[in-house]
Amino acid sequence: MSTSPEQATVVDPELATRLPELREQYAALQARGLSLDLTRGKPSAEQLDLSEPLLSLPGEGNHTSAAGTDVRNYGGLTGLPELREIFAELLGVPVEQLLAQDNASLRLMYDCVVQAMLFGVPGGEPWSATDGPITFLCPVPGYDRHFAICEELGIRMVTVPMTPDGPDAEAVAELVAEDPSVKGIWCVPTYANPDGSVVSEAVARRLVSMPTAAPDFRIFWDNAYAVHHLTEHETKSANAIDLADEAGNPDRVLMFASTSKVTFAGAGVSFLASSPANIAWFSEHLSFRSIGPDKVNQLRHALFFGDAAGVRAHMAKHRAILAPKFAAVTRILAERLGDLGVATWTDPDGGYFVSVDVVPGTASRVVELAGEAGIKLTPAGATFPYGEDPRNANIRLAPSMPPLDEVEVAMDAVATCILLAAAESA
Ligand SMILES: Cc1ncc(COP(=O)(O)O)c(C=O)c1O
Repeated sequence: MSTSPEQATVVDPELATRLPELREQYAALQARGLSLDLTRGKPSAEQLDLSEPLLSLPGEGNHTSAAGTDVRNYGGLTGLPELREIFAELLGVPVEQLLAQDNASLRLMYDCVVQAMLFGVPGGEPWSATDGPITFLCPVPGYDRHFAICEELGIRMVTVPMTPDGPDAEAVAELVAEDPSVKGIWCVPTYANPDGSVVSEAVARRLVSMPTAAPDFRIFWDNAYAVHHLTEHETKSANAIDLADEAGNPDRVLMFASTSKVTFAGAGVSFLASSPANIAWFSEHLSFRSIGPDKVNQLRHALFFGDAAGVRAHMAKHRAILAPKFAAVTRILAERLGDLGVATWTDPDGGYFVSVDVVPGTASRVVELAGEAGIKLTPAGATFPYGEDPRNANIRLAPSMPPLDEVEVAMDAVATCILLAAAESA
């Protein structure tokens, strides 16, 4: 759910007259000497504590998988079957099309892009061997680390707008149809980073079935927040892998997920799901990189969860901690900014972020004002390739990490900064 993006462009002319009052408010804010941080989407210590029992699992003398293998030893490249079964159910994919791997999913995404560059995807030439640029479509606002992978590997980025139903499918279809250098698109289907939107079934169908000028085009379907609901309604992701298969493009989708925001961030387990051909492709190259994943950690996770219902129950505990923080963000923005026309914001049903659009041209000023008042915000522009938001309007808020009372203080301060920056620009 979100407010209309247009609203933020109609600033109440009265606002300029409030400049002295807002400057006073801001000076009082600075005088408080706050030190608060809404930058990265990290779980709070309270959330990490939910998974504390993992630290004593699997436990001395308990190192045998369900199939009887000793998890302390090498091998098992595709990951522990009992863990794969749990997440195959949650992600809606066949277990044989799901790999369980090491500590985080970003490295799987990076590896997929690197492998495609070096060796090509099944049936294709190495991307790096093509004349001219390789292009990825980047829905904006989006996840900075997706963009950083492209930047690191010299992949050209072309932005497409996000809509409440996911990437603008018309814009995407047009670009992929005419430009064979477009080899990929980033997509966070469920509770996107940062706008919380969910890819609708219709958009998913369009993305997996649209004709592409590049025969080796891939959708990087980063399902990072598949089970990270903020309401009791558990929104289901469109099943892009099945839909791609039905559409006759079985190899188009590479799906990623992890337990970084389920158990321990950066010390969980990660997953890659795709067609049998893509899984064979990835596994073959993986076999040169590793003799097998950390199965001890995988066993520990399988024992901790038990089954898919165990993951869901665990996520409900996260929700109980997170939902009040998100509610505070949207409540305070509504109370302080209401219909003044200085900002619009998302009210997500899941994920880790709230995306705020302030008066165009003022996002960097808001971040600067907040910083000078002791509130760290993600740099303006971070949600765009190369850190450049052409409208200088988008700010990503991450309320998960600080305790609720600090989120409330920080958001009140952010609202003051948004108002002051708008008044300065009026
Ligand atoms: C969309 C998205 N994908 C991936 C990640 C990182 O996941 P991992 O810790 O599994 O690398 C994040 C973290 O913020 C994210 O927002």
